[in-house]
Amino acid sequence: MGRNPIYTKVYNELRYKILSGDLPIGSLLPPERKLADQLGVSRNTVVRAYTELEAEGLIAGKMGSGRYVEPLPPLPAFSRVDWRSQHYEYLHASPSHMEELLSVTDRYPDTINFAHGDGGRHTIFESGLMEHVKRAAERSPSYFFTSVQGLPELREHLIKWMAFAQISSPDQVCVTSGSQEGLYLITTLLARQGDCIVTEMPTYFGSLQLFQSLGMQIIPVPVDRDGMRIDVLEGILARSRPRFIYTVPTFHNPTGSTLSLVRRKQLLSISEKYGIPIVEDDAYRHLHLDKEAPPALKELDLCGNVIYLNTFSKMLFPGLRIGWVAASRPFIQRMARLRELTISTSTLNQYALASFLHDGALRPHLARVTRQYANQAERMESHLRPLRALGLNYEKPDGGFYFWISLPEGMKVRSLMQTCHEAGVSITSGDMFLLREAEQPFIRLCYTHEDIDQIDAGMSILTRILSSQKEVSR
Ligand SMILES: Cc1ncc(COP(=O)(O)O)c(C=O)c1O
Repeated sequence: MGRNPIYTKVYNELRYKILSGDLPIGSLLPPERKLADQLGVSRNTVVRAYTELEAEGLIAGKMGSGRYVEPLPPLPAFSRVDWRSQHYEYLHASPSHMEELLSVTDRYPDTINFAHGDGGRHTIFESGLMEHVKRAAERSPSYFFTSVQGLPELREHLIKWMAFAQISSPDQVCVTSGSQEGLYLITTLLARQGDCIVTEMPTYFGSLQLFQSLGMQIIPVPVDRDGMRIDVLEGILARSRPRFIYTVPTFHNPTGSTLSLVRRKQLLSISEKYGIPIVEDDAYRHLHLDKEAPPALKELDLCGNVIYLNTFSKMLFPGLRIGWVAASRPFIQRMARLRELTISTSTLNQYALASFLHDGALRPHLARVTRQYANQAERMESHLRPLRALGLNYEKPDGGFYFWISLPEGMKVRSLMQTCHEAGVSITSGDMFLLREAEQPFIRLCYTHEDIDQIDAGMSILTRILSSQKEVSR
């Protein structure tokens, strides 16, 4: 007979947390008295639980600094597989930029958000989308499956929206859960672990994280004011055979640059020459500040070499999780096969969007928000201009959502980011968009998410922090 049931409960809970990896190796356990207070048990109960865990080798005390979780004891030779610590090791070795960025508002709910890349809260109501979500929610088909390739009427609307001569049938379109899923499917179909792919550098961090997680070798091509350096790309293709060229040619994230018409034609011609497909990520096409974007690569594509990717995350809202891919029929059909494995896009959201597009609501919405975004960009720039005196540098983008800003050499971006978070402003560190830390530190600021008042408030805080950091580094 006899274990003390309270002690057993504490022991079992701690043991579970250690074995499952919830308390990773090296975690410091709370002092006896503190844990006893937290759990509402006697100190003696905690001491007994700790003693038992020590006897099992799961925890050990270090003189003067408390008790820590020990590495799991070696398994016997016939052993079970220790699948839990594999996850722990992976997480430790590969921190997630995506999670770091997307959870900003969970971690700092009142933050002034220059970190996320989306249209602002202030545009939701005016968009009129809510009305279409309600309408969709009142239709019974919204609650059932639709085609894996996406709701047929939505695909019809997408064809009209793109207005590309080459894409005339719903069989050439696949709806995806945001363009991130589209890019995942495309990459999985075109490349295998260890294969090379080419991309602009810097580039959209979600693509970098995706390629790296799938074990791709990334060949970077620099970007200038006119977009990807095609002369450099040509040199790369002469030496290696990447599986595809990933590009954000229009209002590039993060630099804001746009591939010139001349370079678009050169890119298409060398992709044709070497037989290497282009994955065109066109998320920002309709979000121009002054002049409209040049034609999409897909529009100029006479040989079917371009796989086109777009999303409603930037034109409308990322919470919809609706994007699409347009390409040749066989490619799209293979993609749909792959998608069957997850069947991931909500039918309800597809109906809502189809209804929004049916009413012709997208064009007036874009006309309204691009005017607002132009004012917001103007206002953010009015705060940035004086910061040039501190050594900051940037080019005003022609569209998209961001200012890509170089900071004075030696400034520590990660600590700047942390100081900003603590002061109530979220920014994005430039290293997320690069393969390795650049000598010149960068930050990315999104001007679309916050309204003018919040831009004023946030930029004043940022200016104060940057000025004091500059003082310190002198
Ligand atoms: C260039 C680019 N592609 C894709 C995405 C992701 O879009 P989605 O929300 O549709 O997955 C982003 C988002 O920042 C982006 O900037």
